[in-house]
Amino acid sequence: MSSVRFLTGITTSGTPHLGNYVGSIRPAVAASLRPGVESYYFLADYHALIKINEPERIQRSTLEIAASWLAAGLDPARVVFYRQSDVPEIPELTWFLTCVTGKGILNRAHAYKASVDKNLAAELDPDADVTAGLFMYPVLMGADILMFNAHHVPVGRDQIQHIEMARDMAHSFNHRYGEHFVAPLAAIEESVATLPGLDGRKMSKSYDNTIPLFAPRAELKKLIAGIKTDSRAPGEAKSTEGSALFQIYQAFASAEETTAFAQAFADGIAWGAAKEQLFERIDREIAPMRARYEHLMAHPQEVEALLHAGAVKARAVATPFMARLRQAVGLRSLGSAAAAPAKAAKMAAASFKQYREKDGQFYFKLVDAKGALLLQSLGFESPKQAGVAIALIKQEGLGALAALRTQLADEQASPGALQAALDSLHGDQG
Ligand code: TRP
Repeated sequence: MSSVRFLTGITTSGTPHLGNYVGSIRPAVAASLRPGVESYYFLADYHALIKINEPERIQRSTLEIAASWLAAGLDPARVVFYRQSDVPEIPELTWFLTCVTGKGILNRAHAYKASVDKNLAAELDPDADVTAGLFMYPVLMGADILMFNAHHVPVGRDQIQHIEMARDMAHSFNHRYGEHFVAPLAAIEESVATLPGLDGRKMSKSYDNTIPLFAPRAELKKLIAGIKTDSRAPGEAKSTEGSALFQIYQAFASAEETTAFAQAFADGIAWGAAKEQLFERIDREIAPMRARYEHLMAHPQEVEALLHAGAVKARAVATPFMARLRQAVGLRSLGSAAAAPAKAAKMAAASFKQYREKDGQFYFKLVDAKGALLLQSLGFESPKQAGVAIALIKQEGLGALAALRTQLADEQASPGALQAALDSLHGDQG
C-alpha cells in the first residue's frame, strides 16, 4: 500500500529542446501516470543560480520549463510539481547535510573536479573562478532528494555520482541522529534514447545544436531542414546507421513507421523528402501540446498559481519533517521535554490501536495518552496492510502521511499534535 516515491529536478537554465522531451519530459510524464507511484517534479532554480547570473534568463527559463512540462501532460493534481525556491526547508536541510558531509567527498565531485583540472591545465590557481556554489552543488541536490525521502531518482548517467553522494549523506545523518532518511537510488532508463542534435552530436545546449521543443511550426520546419546529412543524391540508397535524421524519427515513430522509413532510405528517398516526413511526424506529436504551451506562456500567472499550489503540497511534507529534523539535531525549544531526559522518559506516550469493524475491514487509529483521537485510518483488507501503514508512520513520521492520504480519514489532529505524539512513541521505545 505504501507508494514508491520518484523525484527529479530540472535546472532552470535554458529552453527545453527535443532532446529534453524525449530523454526526460516524456518518460517522466508517462511514469507519473502509473498507479502506486508518487511523483515529485521540481524546477531547480537554486541550482540555476550556480551557472547563470542573468535574472531575466532564470525567470524566463522557469516559465518555459514549467509550461513545457504542463503542456506535455504533467497533471499537477496527480504529482507534486513545485519550484525549489518556494520550499525554504530545502536550503535549511542543505545546511544540516553540509554538516555531515565530508569536504573530501565534495572535492571528488565530477563537476567540481573538471573545473579544477581545467584550471590546473591552464596553470591557474586550482580554484580560480570556482564558486562555493559549484562546490556545494551535490549537497543542495542531496537536500532536494532527502527532503521528500524519495526512493528513486530518474536522472541521466552524468548524475549518478550525485545520487550516490545523497545516499552517503542519508547514511551519515541517520548514523548520527537516528533513522530519518531513505537512501535514494538512481533510476536510469535504459530504453530512453539520447537524441542527436542538428550536427549529429548529442543534442545539447552546450553544442548549440538543439531544436526547441515548442518552436513554432515554421521554425521547426526550418531547423529540421538544417539537420546534417551526407551528400547522397535522390534515388541513391541511404544508410540509416549514423543518420541523425533517422534516429530522431525513430524517437517519435512507432515500430511500423520506423520500418517503413528505413525502407524509404533503402529505396533512395531524397533528403528533402525525408526531412519533410520527419517534420510532419514530430509536428503530429507536438502540435496539440504547442497550443497549451503558447497559452501558458501568454498567461504566466496561471503557471505561477499551479506552482504555488504545488509548493503548498510540498511544504505539507517538508515543514513537519524539517521540524522533526530540527528536534533530532538539537535545535529545540529550551522548554521542551527532550531537554530534560528524565522527564521525557516519564512523558505519557500516545499509541496506535488496531481493530476490526463490522464491515469486516481492518482499521487503526492513533490516540494520545488520554485516549483522544489524533489520526483515523480508513479500512484495510488485512491487518497486515494496516500494520504496514503504522510501521511506515512510525518510521517516517508525518512525512508518511502524504503517501498514505488515500488511507486516512479526514479527522486528523494538527501537525503539531501529531508530531508530539509521534515523538512520544519514539521516547517510548527508549
Ligand atoms: N542536477 C540535476 C541536473 O542538472 C538537476 C537536479 C537538481 C536534480 N536537483 C535534483 C535532479 C534532484 C534529480 C534530483 O540534471
